[in-house]
Amino acid sequence: MDMSNVHVLDHPLIQHKLTYIRDKHTGTKEFRELVDEVAMLMAFEITRNLPLQEKTIETPVTEATAHVLSGKKIGLIPILRAGLGMVDGMLNLLPAARVGHVGLYRDPETLQPVEYYIKLPKDISERELIVMDPMLATGGSANDAIHSIKKRGAKHIKLMCLVAAPEGIELVQKEHPDVDIYLGALDERLDEHGYIIPGLGDAGDRLFGTK
Ligand code: PRP
Ligand code: URA
Repeated sequence: MDMSNVHVLDHPLIQHKLTYIRDKHTGTKEFRELVDEVAMLMAFEITRNLPLQEKTIETPVTEATAHVLSGKKIGLIPILRAGLGMVDGMLNLLPAARVGHVGLYRDPETLQPVEYYIKLPKDISERELIVMDPMLATGGSANDAIHSIKKRGAKHIKLMCLVAAPEGIELVQKEHPDVDIYLGALDERLDEHGYIIPGLGDAGDRLFGTK
């Protein structure tokens, strides 16, 4: 598989927390907290290349030239529902980011995504956008969400997922070669129901306690 635009953010803290996220004995409250924490740690890595500009300041001792973010505008685009679990963690580090929502569910029979909601910041074409979903399985949902925001003007897009299957990565790479993919882990495969193996089960149900 071509890994040239795939970044596996396998920091020890991310790996540690992902292990507990995967564990079926982890309940909803802890699952939610862990997803939030991992999203924050991933935000730290995903923003590594944000441009800086010089700023002259006075320290208590002397004048100095230091650096601040150069004001690049960021947009977070969670895919509903499960992507919502990653928003607060990201906003902890990116408090000025705007948030757009794409509502999609995967039809359990056909595994095809069905879009039911979209609301985006007006100026998305000027923003660095991070599409977020814990799971990249067949890739249908992420692929559709990216097509949908591109149709509405999105230009600079990254995709951020906790866990991915090779099938999902390959679909997004084929349809959106311009989109870099950031993962907590790359798993082995999909099962016959389109679940990621070993994965973490149904992310939306575990986050919101709907099963
Ligand atoms: C899950 C998950 C992704 C999608 C991944 O959502 O959060 O959006 O499946 O699968 P795919 O890569 O094969 O498209 P789901 O459809 O269960 O909706 P939900 O988040 O509302 O529960
Ligand atoms: N959606 C999930 O929530 N989990 C999977 O393993 C695959 C799709």
